[in-house]
Amino acid sequence: MKFSAGAAAALTALTLTAGILTAAAADVDAGRAKAQQCIACHGDSGISPSGAFPNLAGQHAEYLVQTLRDYKSGVRKNAVMGALVGALSEEDMQDIAAFYASQPGLFTPVKNW
Ligand code: HEC
Repeated sequence: MKFSAGAAAALTALTLTAGILTAAAADVDAGRAKAQQCIACHGDSGISPSGAFPNLAGQHAEYLVQTLRDYKSGVRKNAVMGALVGALSEEDMQDIAAFYASQPGLFTPVKNW
């Protein structure tokens, strides 16, 4: 079967929209509350107080959620983070990711879609 460029573009747009809608369902305020346990290392709003910990503020929500899933499943290995994410549900991870993504950060994501 042969797809036209238009159909491929429409499919891409649909996929991206679905991703954005999924992210929009996450609750930033709930995420802020759930991220209290992360402040010691990642700062109040995701700007880390020390170079030993990565900044999270302004990072893409999709990246943060996938990273937390990867720590939980063991795909990404780190003793500290691996131990912390064990108690987080999928909803917790979505909410926390939405909170950090909403914070002004050192990252400046380019909106190119
Ligand atoms: C005791 C310190 C500590 C605490 C508390 C902590 N983290 Fe981390 N976090 C780290 C370290 C160290 C890394 C880097 C680990 C690595 O190299 O994979 C990290 C990495 C991360 C990353 C990956 C960042 C990237 O750019 O890939 C995310 C996302 C993250 N933490 C989220 C959280 C969340 C959410 C919480 C609270 C539930 C939390 N962290 C609590 C120390 C901490």
